[in-house]
Amino acid sequence: MASNLTRVEHRVDRNKRYERNGHSGAVVWLTGLSGAGKSTLAAGLEGRLFDAGYAAYLLDGDNLRHGLNSDLGFSANARRENIRRAGEVAALLADAGLVCIAAFISPFAQDRANARVAAGNRPFFEIHVCAPLAICELRDPKGLYRRARRGEIPEFTGIDSPYEAPSAPDLRIHTDSLPIEACVDHLLDFVVQRLADAVR
Ligand code: ADX
Repeated sequence: MASNLTRVEHRVDRNKRYERNGHSGAVVWLTGLSGAGKSTLAAGLEGRLFDAGYAAYLLDGDNLRHGLNSDLGFSANARRENIRRAGEVAALLADAGLVCIAAFISPFAQDRANARVAAGNRPFFEIHVCAPLAICELRDPKGLYRRARRGEIPEFTGIDSPYEAPSAPDLRIHTDSLPIEACVDHLLDFVVQRLADAVR
C-alpha cells in the first residue's frame, strides 16, 4: 500500500502555526445518537471559537457524506470507513493549526479510538453528546426515526444498528437536561481550558 512513497517535509512547523494562531491545533470529536444535538453544539462551538479569535472548523457527518464520503452507506464497514476518513481529515486540519470540531455519530468505540490515534500528538477530546434514545426519537429533527420505525431506513443507529457509548469520554454533555446555549457555554469553557493547557 504505502510502498515507493517518501514523506515531504513541511517548511511551516507546528511552532510557527501556534505563534500565528495563538493556540495549538486540536480535534474536538463529538459522538452521539442522531438527534442528540451534535451538529447544533458543534456549529455553536465553531461560531463562538471563531468570534473569540480561534481558527476553528466544523467537520460534520452529514456534510462529509455529500462529498468525500458520498460513496459510503451505513453498514458497519461503511461507517468504519466513514470514520476512518473523517479521522484522517480531522488530523490534517489539526495539523494545519485549526481546532477541528468533528460531529459524527461514530457509533463504534474502536473507530473513535482510531481517530484519536490518527491525531497523533495533537490534543484530541472525545465528547459524548448524550441524550436518551427516547428523547432523540421524540425530537426527531429530520423525521428519520419515524421513517426508521416504519422500516424505511435500514440499519438506523439506536433502532437496528448499535451505538457504543464512550465509557470514559473526556467530557459528557447531557443535552436533555441543559438548554443548548448552556451546553455550548460548557463545551466552550472545556475546550478553551484544555487548549490553554496544551503544549505547542
Ligand atoms: S456514522 O454512523 O457513520 O458516524 P454520520 O455521522 O456520518 O454517521 O452520519 C449520520 C447522519 O446520516 C445522520 O445525522 C442522518 O441524518 C443520516 N442517516 C441516514 N441514514 C442513517 C442511518 N441508517 N443511521 C444513522 N444516520 C443515518
